[in-house]
Amino acid sequence: MSLPDDQDIPLDALLSVAIDAARNAGAMLIECSRIGFRIEHKQTINLVTDADHRAEQRIIDVIHDAFPAHSVLAEERGLTEQLPSRYKWIIDPLDGTTNFAHGFPAYCVSIGVECEGRGIIGVVYDPTRNELFTAQIGRGAYLNGIPISVSTTDHLDHALLVTGFAYDIRETPNNNLDHFVRFALKVQGLRRTGSAALDLCYVAAGRFDGFWEVTLSPWDMAAGVVLLREAGGTVTDFTGAPHSIYGRELVASNGVLHQTMLDLLQKDTALS
Ligand code: IPD
Ligand code: CA
Ligand code: CA
Repeated sequence: MSLPDDQDIPLDALLSVAIDAARNAGAMLIECSRIGFRIEHKQTINLVTDADHRAEQRIIDVIHDAFPAHSVLAEERGLTEQLPSRYKWIIDPLDGTTNFAHGFPAYCVSIGVECEGRGIIGVVYDPTRNELFTAQIGRGAYLNGIPISVSTTDHLDHALLVTGFAYDIRETPNNNLDHFVRFALKVQGLRRTGSAALDLCYVAAGRFDGFWEVTLSPWDMAAGVVLLREAGGTVTDFTGAPHSIYGRELVASNGVLHQTMLDLLQKDTALS
């Protein structure tokens, strides 16, 4: 059973609420970075700030003002659902918390919308650069209103790739260091920005040619994968199977380099 107002909603209406929420939260993050914020430790190297919580509350308020019946999955608060809804908003209020806490300007707000389990809207807002990445299913991807598309780079020698490391890097052997070393010896350049949502948008915009990560969460990926697909990119798990934001692995690329990236990720851990 779903709530009575859980009807078909035009993509433009969803996008406009997502943009409003993302810009509101982005302004709050900039304000917090100016006036100061409190830091708590979830674990030794996993931080959360009161800016994360305040931005998340702001986003949920904007969504629920517009669509009170919709489900919301937010990083800090988890799932908020009255009755099952066809629509689920998936939120990372601050992707790049470690960067934010250090004053390193590489962080963003990420808001994705699913309808019946399919990603249909992606909005990622970088308030430090005033860069707003938006996509609606079937309608392309945009940066500040201008269409974006993935690169055409066709060889790793010319590729700039990006990856990231999860907070359990010290505890698990599946910590991505083997893949990192292998790729570092094959590519033109390899980066670690500290914001998976921006990494996906940067592949969508052709700034990076590919991105992989071993252990991500739905809120890191929900918006970015819609952007990536709409920009003409490819996203799968490490075996090449269809990607799900509820899985952990992600390989995103311009499409041309995808199989090459999969081949390197599927090698066993012995370096070669
Ligand atoms: C993290 C960032 C980082 C990625 C981590 C994520 P957070 O999210 O996206 O780039 O490597 O796996 O957990 O904690 O800054 O929202
Ligand atoms: Ca995140
Ligand atoms: Ca976060």
